[in-house]
Amino acid sequence: MPATDAERPTAPRVHTHSVRIWDLPTRLFHWLLAASVVGLVVSGNIGGNVMPVHALLGQAVLTLVLFRLVWGFVGGHWSRFTTFLPTPHRLQAYWQSLRRPASHQHVGHNPLGALSIVAMLLILLMQVGSGMISDDEIAFTGPWAVLAPSAWVSWATSYHKTWGKTLLLGLVALHLLAILFHRLRHRHNLVPAMLHGNQEVMPGTPSTHDNLGQRVLALVILLGCGALVRWLVAFGN
Ligand code: HEM
Ligand code: HEM
Repeated sequence: MPATDAERPTAPRVHTHSVRIWDLPTRLFHWLLAASVVGLVVSGNIGGNVMPVHALLGQAVLTLVLFRLVWGFVGGHWSRFTTFLPTPHRLQAYWQSLRRPASHQHVGHNPLGALSIVAMLLILLMQVGSGMISDDEIAFTGPWAVLAPSAWVSWATSYHKTWGKTLLLGLVALHLLAILFHRLRHRHNLVPAMLHGNQEVMPGTPSTHDNLGQRVLALVILLGCGALVRWLVAFGN
């Protein structure tokens, strides 16, 4: 079976050239998401007067995740789900390539990374969803807590504070360890591409679409997702 775009091997330092892999909306999504999650963990642990900030950051995360789900269909080539969803064939090919350190450089998300990204997005949605009906039994309740039966509120609060938090922090730790693993084992630093968008690849590797039109489209989608989240939050108020 011929190699897909994402599996095309790239020989380091031989005839490679720099190509835009991560479009600006994907990069902004990533760093805004990472900053918001850090802010949520800190504000959640402080509690008290900081909880309104926690709720706002939670809405920001929901907006960002909804944006990313839409962007997975209309975003640049390497940001689309079709280029990185972890199919069994892609997982198997990647697994075999792991035995050949430095011989195979992956373009875009590798299938194992993609698996952890999908898990992170799902766990984030569950964390926001459970937060929406959580109650700290002091002064703060999520906006939908009044709409839910009390048994759901106590289950959601308990999930939010224990399993949800632990799963999310575990996935983030795994994410960072995987990046370190790539750096040490494959001598490939994935971080710069998530900052400036470009990666050294073999000629013929398609670049992602990252022009003004795409960026305006991303902004419109983001604003639409933000409006939807505001509308959803208003249900309980
Ligand atoms: C709470 C913290 C973080 C979260 C929730 C998070 C989440 C994610 C997500 C969802 C993606 C997929 C991006 C997309 O396609 O839209 C991703 C990719 C990536 N993240 Fe993070 N991230 C976090 C922190 C970091 C940090 C601190 C770094 C840098 C050290 C980092 C480096 C990367 C890189 C390099 C990729 C691309 C990986 C690849 O090439 O396949 N992330 N992250
Ligand atoms: C990805 C999004 C979120 C993350 C990562 C997150 C994280 C956290 C963390 C770490 C705590 C502290 C848990 C502890 O005491 O150990 C917390 C508490 C809490 N969060 Fe969130 N949260 C998120 C979204 C939300 C949202 C959207 C709401 C509602 C607007 C919310 C409402 C609450 C409430 C009410 C508590 C206090 C629970 C208690 O102390 O009984 N969270 N959150």
